[in-house]
Amino acid sequence: HNCQDLQGQRILITAAGTREAIDPVRYIGNRSSGKMGYALAEAAARRGAKVILVSGPTSLPTPPGVNITRIETAAQMQAAVLAEFDTVDIVIKAAAVADYRPELVAEQKIKKTGDTLTINLVKNPDILLELGQRKKQQILVGFAAETEDLIIHAREKLTKKNLDMIVANDITLPGAGFNIDTNIVKIIYKNGNVEELPQLSKQQVAEILIDKISKLLTKST
Ligand code: PMT
Repeated sequence: HNCQDLQGQRILITAAGTREAIDPVRYIGNRSSGKMGYALAEAAARRGAKVILVSGPTSLPTPPGVNITRIETAAQMQAAVLAEFDTVDIVIKAAAVADYRPELVAEQKIKKTGDTLTINLVKNPDILLELGQRKKQQILVGFAAETEDLIIHAREKLTKKNLDMIVANDITLPGAGFNIDTNIVKIIYKNGNVEELPQLSKQQVAEILIDKISKLLTKST
């Protein structure tokens, strides 16, 4: 893709998983590698966008021309995203954000004393929900990683979070989802339309998603 269809657009992309500390050495995390979000950042930058990437921990290299903010926790991701939200035209939330975090973070490494250990979890902010409530002219794109009733759950998130588009991956399918090089997604729009893509590399999925978002931009202007 050689075109510069995103010239002048500012895009905020989140990628990888958050980590929620239990104590100084342990955390609750998830299997997101960042590959999907980084592929989107790379494609958007190549097509002329100004890309702000808010990333959880990953060993992936920062794509050329991309402005990166590294975070660990959902609260840090929330702060980084809200700081940029009013300045951007498009937000794509490919990150896997922890829905809960330990209520207390132990100051010292927890000792192996009891036969069981209970960690109380409290709810994290839903960043995308908050963006949906604050949104003005921005195009908001979410992801949904589901293990059952893919379209139903993805549609619920699209509506509840006031999104323009949601990218649903059925993570039970081999070839889709966390920590692999390919994905199998269904794109669902605000008007209810669904487009199914075959198994593709995350780079190919990213190019197609940017095509679709670019079309939404021309419609809204
Ligand atoms: O990183 P990879 O290994 O390449 O894997 C890619 C991926 C599977 C992580 C990616 O394609 C994906 O599906 N990302 C979203 C995963 C997810 O956690 O979805 P969710 O259904 O829990 O959340 C729905 C949406 O709300 C997401 O856009 C998420 O970023 C956002 N969210 C969720 C919870 C929360 N507290 N705040 C949020 O903003």
